[in-house]
Amino acid sequence: MTHYLKEPLLLEKRGVTISNRIMKSAMSEGMASRDHAPTDELIRLYERWSEGGAGLIVTGNVMVTKDALGEPGNVVLEDARHLDQFRRWASAGKRCGNEFWMQINHPGKQVVRGLVKEGHAPSAIPFPPKFQRFFAPSRALTTAGIHDLIHRFKMTASLAKEAGFTGVQLHAAHGYLISQFLSPRHNRRTDEWGGSIENRSRFLKEICRAVRAEVGESFPIGVKINSADFMKAGFTEEESKYVIKSLEELGVDHVEISGGTYEKAVMTGKKGPASEREAYFLEYAEGLKKRTTIPIAVTGGFRTSEGMREALASGATDMIGLARPLAVDPYIPHKLLEGELKDITTRSVRTGIPAVDKGGMMEIMWYSQQLDRLGRGKQTKPRFSPKLSLLLSLWKQGMGVFQKRRV
Ligand SMILES: Cc1cc2nc3c(=O)[nH]c(=O)nc-3n(C[C@H](O)[C@H](O)[C@H](O)COP(=O)(O)O)c2cc1C
Repeated sequence: MTHYLKEPLLLEKRGVTISNRIMKSAMSEGMASRDHAPTDELIRLYERWSEGGAGLIVTGNVMVTKDALGEPGNVVLEDARHLDQFRRWASAGKRCGNEFWMQINHPGKQVVRGLVKEGHAPSAIPFPPKFQRFFAPSRALTTAGIHDLIHRFKMTASLAKEAGFTGVQLHAAHGYLISQFLSPRHNRRTDEWGGSIENRSRFLKEICRAVRAEVGESFPIGVKINSADFMKAGFTEEESKYVIKSLEELGVDHVEISGGTYEKAVMTGKKGPASEREAYFLEYAEGLKKRTTIPIAVTGGFRTSEGMREALASGATDMIGLARPLAVDPYIPHKLLEGELKDITTRSVRTGIPAVDKGGMMEIMWYSQQLDRLGRGKQTKPRFSPKLSLLLSLWKQGMGVFQKRRV
């Protein structure tokens, strides 16, 4: 029987081969130093993930400027100050021969109140009242501000290459800045950056062009994008397919499919008919594959080797994206590749307190604590009680903990 997971994947335009079909998807680690540099704990975490066997490993989101943070422990790469530490991180994350890409991000309006004064977004559309106590108010970007941010994405990509990362992934999903530009709900501009989907995708396309011009022809560029926002008047599946087709024409090498925003957090679980399938964005991916030849990864919900095999065999996806399972056991890719693991058991991370369980924050907290243990060289605690996890977070960070974690 063909072992689909073991097949290498060639990124043709770059002549880069990913050694197998498993991708470790981005998980924001919250482990940077006070001045936003990679710490020894972060480096240790990626040594473990590299040993774990995934063909492609993507970092948690690295911000293009310290003036816009999604959470306090974000890594920021905006100049060469900490490049030696980034070099150590890059070597650790690719030590076993896997591809190691840096995910590059700007949170836009999803910036934490208290951490920054004000966010920047395509348009100054306030969050619904229930989210306003979490997020700082935001103002609309000027044209000069937009060009400055395109430059910043380019600089971060250039520094990532210089540090030894083997590629970059632009975060255009989950309601962050690029995703805000794509969405008609958040982008109400009347200039060339808003209106039609062609205009709304201009910010992403200009970043892709600028990054490509900077990093050259042999360096892969990936994009993580929503299949849809799942919000009224938001970014739709049809628009998402259109944007991916134009990314293909621009020479983007790889697209990871996710969905949702902080206001509609479906990236870690989706209700409705699609949830009958193990991975909740697969139906969308099947349709997408009819329109594009760009290699894609689908992320969200994969938990059985059979489900992964079927998804690859059907041609709906080229790679299997895995996040939460690898926070609990970094060696899962190796076990899947060797046929030693059929089902990944994940526990439901719920405290039973509705106000706490709502919106997925509890999950993020619990999984972050597992990452923290790995970074400190400890074993994970797969059976760690969510209630204790909550108490631990409250003890360490106080009530602000609910305001500080994002996907
Ligand atoms: C703790 C945590 C942090 C995350 N941080 C990021 C991130 O920085 N960037 C991103 O694109 N997705 C992030 N995600 C979303 C995951 O990449 C992934 O899309 C989601 O967890 C669904 O995949 P899974 O079912 O395999 O966990 C995060 C998820 C978790 C649990």
